[in-house]
Formats: sequence, C-alpha cells, structure tokens
Amino acid sequence: MLEQIAFTTKSILEKTNGFKPEFGIILGTGLGGLVKEIDVHFSIAYSEVPNFPVSTVEGHSGQLIFGMLGGKKVMAMQGRFHFYEGYTMQQITFPVRVMKAIGIQTLCVSNASGGMNPAFKVGEIMIITDHINLFPTNPLIGKNIPELGPRFPDMSAAYKKEYIDLAIKIAMENDIKVSTGVYAGLTGPCFETPAEYRYLWRMGADCVGMSTVPEVIVAKHSGMDVFGVSIITDLGVEGLVETVSHEEVQHIAKQQEPKMSLIVRKLIQHIHP
Ligand code: HPA
Repeated sequence: MLEQIAFTTKSILEKTNGFKPEFGIILGTGLGGLVKEIDVHFSIAYSEVPNFPVSTVEGHSGQLIFGMLGGKKVMAMQGRFHFYEGYTMQQITFPVRVMKAIGIQTLCVSNASGGMNPAFKVGEIMIITDHINLFPTNPLIGKNIPELGPRFPDMSAAYKKEYIDLAIKIAMENDIKVSTGVYAGLTGPCFETPAEYRYLWRMGADCVGMSTVPEVIVAKHSGMDVFGVSIITDLGVEGLVETVSHEEVQHIAKQQEPKMSLIVRKLIQHIHP
C-alpha cells in the first residue's frame, strides 16, 4: 500500500509540475459543478492515474482537477468510487491516502442523500456534523500501517466544529438556508425501504447515503480535518416515503449545487490549513 501511494503521488506530481494543493475536495452525485469555479491548472482522467479504479456510475465523470479556488490551491475529485461498484474499501479510499501524501491537510466532502428528518425538504442543504458507519466493514480493517495513522483513530469530532460553525455563518451571510445533521452511510445500491428509513431515523441519523463515511474514516486516520455537506435529494420521512430514481437525485443535486459550491468556496477562502 505504501508503495502504491508513493507511486501514484509521484505520477501525479510529475503530471502537475509539482503543484502542491492544500485542500482536497470530493464531489458527489450531481455536484461536479463546483469545478466550474476552479481556475483549473491541470486535470487528469482517473484512467490516467496509476492504481485508481475507474468510476462506473452515470453522473460521475471521473477526473482529478488541480487549480485555485477561493485563493487556495485545491485538488478536487470529480466523481468518487463507491463500495456498491464492487471495489474494496481500500480502493475507494485510496485517493484520500494520495491526497494526504501530496500534502493535503483539509478534506471537503459532498454527497447527495435521502432525508429522514421530518423538518427537511427536498433540496435541503445539510452540513454534516457526524456520521454513522453502517457499511458492513471499515477501510481500516487489516494490519495497521503506522506510517499512515494509528490503530485506533479518534472519531470524537470527525467533522471539525470550527468548519461547521463557519459554514453556518457563511450560509447566513449569503441568505442560504442550511440545516445540520448526522449522515448514515450504507452500501446501497438499493434506495431504502420505508422500514429502513424508519430504523435509520430512530437510530439517530438525519439522512442516508451510499458514500462519504469510508473516505472520512481514512481522512481522520491520516490526521486530516474534514468538512462535509449533503444535499437532501429525496425524503424518507415516516409515513411518506417517496419513490426515487438516480435521475431525480442528480437533478435536485444539480439544482442546489451552486449554493453548496458557494459555501465550500468561501469556507476554503477563510480557513488556513
Ligand atoms: N438513499 C441513499 N442514497 C441516496 C439517497 C437515498 O435516499 N438519495 C440520494 N442518495
């Protein structure tokens, strides 16, 4: 694993003339539009990155973007890898290992999710305050590599409080309504049944999706700070679970994407990793 990380990192640094991003961004379903706001210096298709899997999902175009956002150097993943595509936990989180090796200290993650919180509306922007790992496994299972992080990483504040507070302030200043809440991550690819939505809400989650948790676990293992935001694209509130399609999820996410992009851009502008 260490050799693979080193090899991929070297290959990327060669392709980007040693461009050293400070912020990593992972863009979820329908949320790739943030890339339009990046002053792009380099982009590399995943197929050109050694040891990267190739993304198989519609709406995930699959490239690494290097450039300036909010006056800072960023590396963005346009499209992520999901466990339901058949990759291992180590494969889907490999890009986060590479980000850390490149020197990134702060990771911003975004996703589309289904909301259980009855106060939520379709299109709600939820700042992630915490998560529940409902994947049947964990990317850190196996022999721990001390060079990458501790055997038992602390998860008491996986999503940095300072970033949550700053994002809320930015949203208020820009007249964007945001909520906060807990993201439950599970495998998919099925959307949830009404009984599953009910169970997830009762266990303490506000929304549910099929990503993010593995990447955040690895980011925290690596000692990175994390900011997360979710767009609620459909609802699974007790008694009124709506049918949902991937197309609708993409459509709603795309509609709300400019607001999410503004929050992420201003956040990056204001924080010093
Ligand atoms: N469940 C899981 N993942 C999702 C959902 C959902 O309802 N909506 C968008 N991504």
